[in-house]
Amino acid sequence: MLARALIERKRDGGRITPAEWRSLMSRYAADEVPDYQMAALAMAIYFNGLDRAETVALTDAMLHSGAMLDLEHLTMARVDKHSTGGVGDKVSLVLAPLVASLGVAVPMMSGRGLGHTGGTLDKLESIPGFRTDLTLARATEQIERLGCALIGQTREIAPADRRLYALRDATATVESIPLIAASIMSKKLAEGLTALVLDVKRGSGAFLPDLDRGLALARTMIELGADHGCPVVTLLTAMDRPLGRACGNTLEVEESIMALRGDGPPDLMAVTYALGAEMLVLGGVAANRDDARRRMEVAISSGKAAAKFQQIIEAQGGDPRVLDDPSLLPQAAECELYLAVQDGVVAQVEPRAIGRGITALGGQRTKVEDGVDHSVGFVVTARPGDVVRAGEPLATVFARDRDGIALGLAALRESLRIAEEADPPLPLISHRVTEAGVELWE
Ligand code: URA
Repeated sequence: MLARALIERKRDGGRITPAEWRSLMSRYAADEVPDYQMAALAMAIYFNGLDRAETVALTDAMLHSGAMLDLEHLTMARVDKHSTGGVGDKVSLVLAPLVASLGVAVPMMSGRGLGHTGGTLDKLESIPGFRTDLTLARATEQIERLGCALIGQTREIAPADRRLYALRDATATVESIPLIAASIMSKKLAEGLTALVLDVKRGSGAFLPDLDRGLALARTMIELGADHGCPVVTLLTAMDRPLGRACGNTLEVEESIMALRGDGPPDLMAVTYALGAEMLVLGGVAANRDDARRRMEVAISSGKAAAKFQQIIEAQGGDPRVLDDPSLLPQAAECELYLAVQDGVVAQVEPRAIGRGITALGGQRTKVEDGVDHSVGFVVTARPGDVVRAGEPLATVFARDRDGIALGLAALRESLRIAEEADPPLPLISHRVTEAGVELWE
């Protein structure tokens, strides 16, 4: 009876009280509320929204539907980073070991690919043997020992969100600011963090492409953090083109290893350093962002950050030799260059078409139960604004067979547009949002 009354009230623009949210979400996590009722409620929220108090109450209700990582006893600060998702976004793979190597604990809980966007767990699982399904006890022990664990949302963490998120994916109710904010923050707060850094993507490849919606999401998550004593800093970054060159699981792990070895593409390094600087300042190990940047550069040039990644891989059952020999990662049977069809300027490298191309090649799921071919994907060397000549290589497709090559070339034709002139792409990092307000990024 409770669920029906709440759906009716939300449908008619009313409010749900904190006690009602608690009761509803704990019953949903216990399988006592059917998915069809939650789907109707999610759609009512999609259209009518939630006010601040309701968003806080929903977040709390999902957070307390499960267990939390208990890391209070650690002397180190505990800071995580979360991205709203994109194509080629392998920042977590570089950032987590880099920041952990500098003395801030990173209890990183990541997701799988969703829609056209890739997922950190799928990327990590291209490393032979790597396990992301650690229990909370094992993750805690690893964080105490190495300062970092790279895990998935276990069954114990925010089970109400886990169920609701899958339902939203199937009912076209993902793109709601209060639902996204409550979903992300319930999981992040369950990590027992002392601070959080968010990377909110904007541009055609982001879940919320518009700047205004990105800023509204950032503010909502910052408020939720503040209400729970967890300071949150958000950067808005560009997803109107892929980040870095590699797009696809193995290829992104290879690029991340290169980045940790000091040879990462400039845009990937700029976003990694900007987010890492916020983490190190919030974690109290760097005096300011310039100091943080210097420390990260030294951690990379000295090999300390790469060594930390190697330790994490070994601790989670993966083959640590991939750091020195990335050819141990699954390799595609076929590859082919994609060439410019005309002279001109690269006007667009549309990320959604690349993301859908990875799915077509078998590198991302369309259903939860699907397997993933880790070896496939793209390396896109062309950047918006590049002047190119007909016949020049712009990208490479990696596929399991010739049919895959044809699908990959078609995706690149859809994504890459060459014109006589091009509008400038979005700034790589455009805004920094904190509790104090919004600053333009210099
Ligand atoms: N990521 C999440 O964890 N939840 C959402 O709702 C959207 C992105």
